[in-house]
Amino acid sequence: MNGPLALFFGTRPQVIKASVLREALASAGPVVAVDTGQHYDYDLHQVHYDQLGVRPPDAYLDVGSDTHARQTAAILTACADWITANRPRAAIVIGDTNSTLACALAAAKLRVPVAHVEAGMSAADRLMAEEINRRSVDAIAEVLFPPSERVATKLRRQYPDALVETVGDVAYDVLQRALKKAPASGAGGADRFIFVTLHRAELVDDAARLRLVMEALAEAPLPCRFAAHPRTAAALERLGYAANGRVRLTPPVGYLESIALLRQASAVVTDSGGIQREAYWLGVPCITVREETEWVETVERGANRLIAPREAATLPAAIAQAIGGARLWDKSAYGDGHAAERIAAILAARF
Ligand code: UD1
Repeated sequence: MNGPLALFFGTRPQVIKASVLREALASAGPVVAVDTGQHYDYDLHQVHYDQLGVRPPDAYLDVGSDTHARQTAAILTACADWITANRPRAAIVIGDTNSTLACALAAAKLRVPVAHVEAGMSAADRLMAEEINRRSVDAIAEVLFPPSERVATKLRRQYPDALVETVGDVAYDVLQRALKKAPASGAGGADRFIFVTLHRAELVDDAARLRLVMEALAEAPLPCRFAAHPRTAAALERLGYAANGRVRLTPPVGYLESIALLRQASAVVTDSGGIQREAYWLGVPCITVREETEWVETVERGANRLIAPREAATLPAAIAQAIGGARLWDKSAYGDGHAAERIAAILAARF
């Protein structure tokens, strides 16, 4: 097949990574960017196109939200139709969302080889939505791009037939570019704060857990700025949660604001994989409200600490400790910020 390379994405963090990949892949031949439309709210999605000057996608599948089954099925069908009409020579998918799974499956069923960026980032909870997605995609992909050598070793054992290449983390490429666009504004002593983002279904769709976390945040040693994903905002409304002086709720922020807030924050409390790594690279202590993390190197190097949601009552003490702790950890766990170039070179040689 000699069609273009097709790059599929659909959620907030994927739009950002896809922009850097798209540019790098252009050197490997024609590349077509396909946005599934899994995320569609302006402040969750379009803001990234506007803010980062990302070119509009070449195709938009307009699937929107629904149950996991319906959303995945809608992406699968729309993506398969698109592939049939456009015959790409390979499909590139990123991460672990429903868009990642459905596009990989659509391609593989049509015998279009799949390359998986952020491959192998497994967790123990095998029924978490993202875990189902990433394991399934790793199993059908022909090329796997893990961000670290530790993960690559595991993947080579699991999938001896696949091409496994450690390339680093595309999110680091993106961050380094963003830092050039948005230079640091010094943290003001008077308005020190904790930056908070929580959006995972396992936490926010469990009312008791979410309530416990919100009570703990109100007791944090500094005020919190909580940028709430629409899923989280809806869950807080169901709880009848009223924001107070200690926890300030805002709509989701764009990527550049998120990086600026992170850099100014005294610490971050999150369940986002992206923010765990960004905090690690930026030298901001992170507390992850989950039982486990895929980004174990951030914990091993002292940048990140896990607090299980049921233990949220310990958050205020953990935050105090994080604020007072050292920030000089080794930041080389996930490459050097040139992952996209490596991916492009490997794909150009392979396809
Ligand atoms: C998805 C990914 C998650 C990723 C996150 C990044 C899956 C299974 N999960 O989670 O891994 O970390 O994106 O942000 O793919 N909604 C809106 N507006 C939107 C999009 C969603 O209001 O633009 C609401 C809808 O009520 C929807 C809910 O958010 O039902 C969940 O959206 P969905 O796309 O299913 O998953 P995320 O929770 O965003």
